[in-house]
Amino acid sequence: MEKIQLRINGVEHAIDADKNTVLLDVLRDQRRLTGVKQSCDQKGQCGACTVLVNGKAVRSCLSRVVKLDGADIITVEGLGTPDNPHLIQEAFVLAGAVQCGFCTPGMIMAAKALLDENPNPDKEEIKKALRHNLCRCTGYKKIIEAVQLAGRFLRSETTPDAVRPTADQGMMGVSHPRPSAMAKACGTAKFTADYAVEGALELSVLRSWMPHARIAAVDTAEAEKMPGVAGVLTAADVKGTNILKYLVADRPVLCRDEVRYVGDPILAVAAESRQQAAAALEKVKVVLEPLPMLSDPHAAMAPDALQLHSEFPNLCYNQPQIKGDAQAALQTAAAVVAARFQTQINHQAPLEPEATVALWEKDEAGDEDQLVIIGRSINIHYHLGMLQGALGWENMRYVEAFSGGQFGIKIDVISEGIAGAAAIHFKRPVRYIPGLAESMLMTSKRHAFDMQVKLAADRQGNLTTFFNDMVVDNGAYYSIGHVVVYRALQMLSGSYNIPNVNARGRLVYTNNPWGSAARGAGPPQANFALECAMDMLADKLGMDPFEFRMRNILKPGQTKSTGQVVAEWPLPELMEAMRPHYDRAVKEAAAASTAKIKRGVGLGTGSFGIGGPNDAAVAAVELDDDGGISIFAAAADPGEGNDAMLTQLTAEFMQIPLEKVRLNTRDTINTAASGPAAGSRITYMIGGALINALEQLKAAMQSTGAETGPAIEAAGQPRRFVGRKKTETGPLDPETGQGPSFESQVHAVQLVELEVDTETGQVRVLKMTTAVDAGPVIHPQNLTGQLEGGMDMGVGFALREEYIAGETRDWKTFKFPTLAHHFDMDVIIRETPRPNGPLKVTGVGEMCMVPTAPAVINAINNAVGVWVCDLPATPEKIKAALAG
Ligand code: FES
Ligand code: FES
Repeated sequence: MEKIQLRINGVEHAIDADKNTVLLDVLRDQRRLTGVKQSCDQKGQCGACTVLVNGKAVRSCLSRVVKLDGADIITVEGLGTPDNPHLIQEAFVLAGAVQCGFCTPGMIMAAKALLDENPNPDKEEIKKALRHNLCRCTGYKKIIEAVQLAGRFLRSETTPDAVRPTADQGMMGVSHPRPSAMAKACGTAKFTADYAVEGALELSVLRSWMPHARIAAVDTAEAEKMPGVAGVLTAADVKGTNILKYLVADRPVLCRDEVRYVGDPILAVAAESRQQAAAALEKVKVVLEPLPMLSDPHAAMAPDALQLHSEFPNLCYNQPQIKGDAQAALQTAAAVVAARFQTQINHQAPLEPEATVALWEKDEAGDEDQLVIIGRSINIHYHLGMLQGALGWENMRYVEAFSGGQFGIKIDVISEGIAGAAAIHFKRPVRYIPGLAESMLMTSKRHAFDMQVKLAADRQGNLTTFFNDMVVDNGAYYSIGHVVVYRALQMLSGSYNIPNVNARGRLVYTNNPWGSAARGAGPPQANFALECAMDMLADKLGMDPFEFRMRNILKPGQTKSTGQVVAEWPLPELMEAMRPHYDRAVKEAAAASTAKIKRGVGLGTGSFGIGGPNDAAVAAVELDDDGGISIFAAAADPGEGNDAMLTQLTAEFMQIPLEKVRLNTRDTINTAASGPAAGSRITYMIGGALINALEQLKAAMQSTGAETGPAIEAAGQPRRFVGRKKTETGPLDPETGQGPSFESQVHAVQLVELEVDTETGQVRVLKMTTAVDAGPVIHPQNLTGQLEGGMDMGVGFALREEYIAGETRDWKTFKFPTLAHHFDMDVIIRETPRPNGPLKVTGVGEMCMVPTAPAVINAINNAVGVWVCDLPATPEKIKAALAG
């Protein structure tokens, strides 16, 4: 060990360091400067750990402390505080560049180094300076704008006060800074791994390296003798059922006899430090005896296939959808296209790795102490119930920390089960903070779809029939399973009027990573097939893809593939708004193409359902002593902006200042179950329940004349009201797939302009324009932020990203979108009121995932005339298609 002198945020510190000690660990673990984040496994891939070292932006995970003697270190905490922020922090908040906020401190520090040297950087200089910093939420557009705005502040061309919206601008359609944005920009918002707990054990978990195997032997004797080790946790030590049941009881907290995918957890070592736990894990001896692997869902459906779960068949769900007579319509069609479309297993890729802290609180009233789970759940009450059963401990509470994005990955319990079981077994607080590689192993993935499609039209170009036989790879565990198939069927006909439909969704267990929610969850995969088939059919009919779509858009009074009659469908207006952009793009593409570089234009549409059957939400409001409103609703906000939505809806409805709206949304102790932050449902469902509660409160205030909590109680009325929002109930008919669908829809048209290098197969997206109608806008930055992030994610899904078990282990192998992939983005907004939405609005979070991938693939076809229907459309696949 050496003594190293560091000046950190202006204060001198003597640090003990050996030759391997990195600055990130000193800052986070020793100095508790948790504004410095870690996403990648200290490989220099994420930039979340960026700090200033002697004025230069440095990834602190790559910086050896022994080489820093006498250095001057500035972290995001040293720039400013929420009460006295730096101008760059102000700029990030005011530009709407802070969504989940996990990347924000690193981005801000990289921007600081740039602006110190160059106070007026252009876009390319910003992209270069921030090239090491990843963001999953924003699509980078608002981050570039934030750096530009910071430059204007620093050059005294404007001020935060001049930019910040004021109360007299109103609440609807105004981008008031999000409630937590400044805390995230200043590094004071606590994410799960930022919780330090005195005396906590740290965990290291052994996970299966085989896709299917019997656990033949486990020897932990040597590991248990290692320094600092408290013990080893196996399935036998889990008190409850050891099963995390979301819909089906099939996923163990820790595997007992068998592992079913690469990543299945076998045991956990608990020790006083992470390093000790990891060292001891190396000493564990486990023998796995390989069992046959089900890698292909088609093979897994064969009658003689081995059954993965003894209680459930491999074909675990099978839902047809029959509307009209598709076969008869096929016989008389003027044009038919048939194709196979496949989508990949993909990682949702939130920047923050998985994490849980489990701690104990004394409960004087109860028989047993309370186990508090701090994690990244988007459904705290449901997860609490799952954990109570699996772990056999009743007195438990879940607290949602700030979350570094999730995109569906946290719809199910992940690390909470092992952390909670260890806390109960060892009667100690526990931190389970896995790295990125392990997070990738343990989490659910986007389902792979394999679709056989036929689409047909009559001579005039009217769609007549659609076949889609979907085989969905569920992986090893069910999770939300059939919900994904349901959603794909409920939105199967996309934006169009298709009188005859014959489809089927089959969900199959395999030994692949388990599928679950992933932004859009089903419709992005199904719509990819439909929208590409639309271009194929337009081509066969000799029609322009734009006009072909216009002709076939569903009209109010017509039915979706579920038979549901739609009341509103403002898609033609979006198409008309897109028309001039499409015409321009087509002209420019023709002019810009060369023999080597071909320019292409692609369209996709999407109509995404929100407020599905059987949905319900609850929200309570309370009139405070000062006339403010407290909201109590378990409405997770992993970065979309739900906190701002709830705050602004309340301020608008009650005509009170934003500061008088108080949120209680993150703790099971003071909220009611309101369902997951998934399916783009929070604004529509919880916002709906909130408005229902506020209506009751407002009526009571008006009838009593009371304006404060004490006054309303003195007038004989309660100060607390509970609001509810429910949708139609009922399943799809098991034989026909006809039945209730969604109460509300958000619509989008996507236009992609790209170029393809015919020699290398490389695709460069140049520009994407999206036209969206999600009803009246509450917060323009939040809306456009969702769309921009969704475009970026949709392009990744179309062109690059894939999760391959055992190979995808970090952001590089995942091909995470960086600033180098950034393209121009434009958003066109229409605001058709939705009759049943809170203040006439609906949700939007997943919309951009639905039309983006097909628009990209259609643009590639438009550029070079080949179809790549097997995502991702990598350069290799495009080259192979071009070679014929
Ligand atoms: S933790 Fe340093 S770059 Fe990822
Ligand atoms: S805001 Fe950048 S990762 Fe979430």
